[in-house]
Amino acid sequence: MNIKNICITGAAGNISYSLIFRLLSKLPFKNTDKINLTLLDISQSQKSLIGLRYEIEDCAFSTLNSINVTDNVENAFQESDYIIMVGAKPRSKGMERSDLILDNANIFKSQALIIDRVCSPSTKVIVVGNPANTNALILNYNTPSIPNENITSLMKLDQNRAKSILAEKINEHVEDIQQMIIWGNHSTTQVPDLSNCLLNAEQINVDDTWIQNIFIPKVQKRGGEIIEYRGLSSAASAASAIYDHINIIDNGSNSWESLGIMTSGEYDIESGLMFSLPLNVTSEGYQVIKDLKIDTYIETLIKLSEKELLKERDIVKSYLP
Ligand code: NAD
Ligand code: LMR
Repeated sequence: MNIKNICITGAAGNISYSLIFRLLSKLPFKNTDKINLTLLDISQSQKSLIGLRYEIEDCAFSTLNSINVTDNVENAFQESDYIIMVGAKPRSKGMERSDLILDNANIFKSQALIIDRVCSPSTKVIVVGNPANTNALILNYNTPSIPNENITSLMKLDQNRAKSILAEKINEHVEDIQQMIIWGNHSTTQVPDLSNCLLNAEQINVDDTWIQNIFIPKVQKRGGEIIEYRGLSSAASAASAIYDHINIIDNGSNSWESLGIMTSGEYDIESGLMFSLPLNVTSEGYQVIKDLKIDTYIETLIKLSEKELLKERDIVKSYLP
């Protein structure tokens, strides 16, 4: 029997409440029969975690081998195949994700040092807590024993949003749209780019005015729009995107994907940033899709997102060794 060890941080929070049941309903991991699930949250959330544990047990999932709830970070991370880092403060109305930087930087630095100490280099870490790219950067710089490729930040929610908005506009099915790209930061500077999108292998044509005035701003501001309506940040859609992200990195994907990865000079973007790029992903790893033609409008936006990430990197420089 094949069993994987999965740790979720921020397990008592809103995203995890959706994610855990989705994961256990149908495991997104290849060749895996069951998981040992570790749920980590702070001490004050342990009572709530026990209630969550009871609920999970009451589902009698055949995919669950064992469950452990804890506030002990070292024990939680040890032997993990995947660590899904959701544990962080979310923004509320009127805030930008970057307003969370210093609150959440401490969490990511301290947990990174523990990952570096107790985890094997094959551990895969997915960063969800905001500002996701800069938290992932802190994590990356503070885990020299984990290869860069094993640390990614969640951009799949943005890619799903972009596909869904485009599908509605052209009155087609979302699953027939391929090659949607998200460049940059998981923030209002992200760049949803449909210039390479295919619909059942045919180029999609939509007018530039709609792309520039409706499509791009709508995807960029969708997280804020949800907070405005729900009074809380997206949780079920974020959980669904995390599920997709795990599926993609564990099994590979037939389509282009956008994940936040460590840059090394691709497309003239500064090295050493966690930046969303177009990728071909297999179960062995990812390759940046090279030599795409980028129009001037999109290029200018990509530069703005790069500038924002450089600014965020500067703010957290004391967290980067
Ligand atoms: P939430 O407040 O409901 O849950 C966060 C949980 O993290 C809480 O239970 C809290 O106790 C826990 N936590 C705080 N500090 C911790 C620590 N040091 N160790 C372990 N757990 C800790 O928030 P949520 O709605 O679940 O969102 C979590 C994060 O995910 C937020 O930062 C949010 O902005 C972010 N988010 C990211 C995306 C994305 O696409 N990248 C999408 C949605 C939300
Ligand atoms: C989102 O995109 O929905 C999340 O990052 C939450 C937020 O703060 O917008």
